[in-house]
Amino acid sequence: MYARIRPLLFALGPEQAHLLASASARAAQKAVPSALERMFAFSHPALSVQVLGLTFTNPVGLAAGFDKNAHLVPFFRLLGAGFTEVGSVTAEPGRGNRRPRLFRFPEDEALVNRMGLGNHGSERIAPRLKRFAHQPAFPMGVNIAKTHSPDILGNAALDDFAATYGRVADHASYITLNVSCPNTAEGKTFEDPAALDALLSQLDRLVAERRREGAARTPPLLVKLSPPERERFVLDSFYDEILAVCAAHRVDGFVATNTLPHDKGGLSGPPLAARSTALVRYLYTKTGGAKPIIGVGGIDSAEAAYERLAAGASLVQLYTGLVYHGPGLIRSIKQGLVRLSEDEGHSSISQITGSRA
Ligand SMILES: Cc1cc2nc3c(=O)[nH]c(=O)nc-3n(C[C@H](O)[C@H](O)[C@H](O)COP(=O)(O)O)c2cc1C
Repeated sequence: MYARIRPLLFALGPEQAHLLASASARAAQKAVPSALERMFAFSHPALSVQVLGLTFTNPVGLAAGFDKNAHLVPFFRLLGAGFTEVGSVTAEPGRGNRRPRLFRFPEDEALVNRMGLGNHGSERIAPRLKRFAHQPAFPMGVNIAKTHSPDILGNAALDDFAATYGRVADHASYITLNVSCPNTAEGKTFEDPAALDALLSQLDRLVAERRREGAARTPPLLVKLSPPERERFVLDSFYDEILAVCAAHRVDGFVATNTLPHDKGGLSGPPLAARSTALVRYLYTKTGGAKPIIGVGGIDSAEAAYERLAAGASLVQLYTGLVYHGPGLIRSIKQGLVRLSEDEGHSSISQITGSRA
């Protein structure tokens, strides 16, 4: 069906198409939830994954950036996703960069974006998160970032991150720190090892304070990293430093990867796949599989998802693949994963993780 709808959406500009698709999804989740659920239904016990102290009915989730303001959480559950990641959410609301800021490259099924972290801000988004929090069998991660403003730096930047953490932590199944957005004016400030160390120290203090005050729970914390610059990724001291900093703090896992810097913004889709897979494999090997990894970047088929899991990911996420292949991609990846894992003699998806690391 998406084959018929796609030419209509692609006749619009990429951002208008996204707004139209999101508005339709919002209407549909409200008006026809059971029809949606029936249309996309596919479940299988082999798909279930237990990781980060959470239960996922399947390992295929929505990547950050699609549902920045937490309007579409029910929609992705009805589509049969195993989880969703809202955000990036920042402390202050923002409109993002000037348009045009999203570009299609259909010959590569890729996108380039320089959206610049526009969102409603954590104060407005937190009550929405609360409504959707802790639904049985549908984890909702919250991706947080520093407010996009080159004037917020140093301690103010740490406080900015901490403010959002404090507002969303009670509602998030897990929290991802987006330290790798390639399209903000101030750059990837917190992917610098010393800055990341300062940020994680601040969050450690905040978590200790919340515990003293009797916080009900501390969600697992993941760090989202940039893809390697080279496709054939070899030992890289940059990632080793990041890993050492993360090991010294309470970091429970990684999201690999964000988009690849490109002259117009960040590149996503299949051209990113080899780099993202290489980083997943590297992280898995370096940590001995001890830190769960969410693999993201160019996943557009069951084969690509299988490869990412085999390289060391426990879960995968999609964004650009949904734009080119439509919402049915989630179900087709789930069906394909069951088939591929049976072919390889695995009785459950979790056995794939790291099988070709
Ligand atoms: C339009 C657009 C907006 C995005 N916004 C965010 C964001 O706000 N925060 C974030 O961590 N990643 C963001 N991403 C990155 C995706 O979450 C993902 O890491 C990346 O697109 C690679 O996956 P894909 O090839 O499946 O799209 C965005 C991606 C796109 C295409």
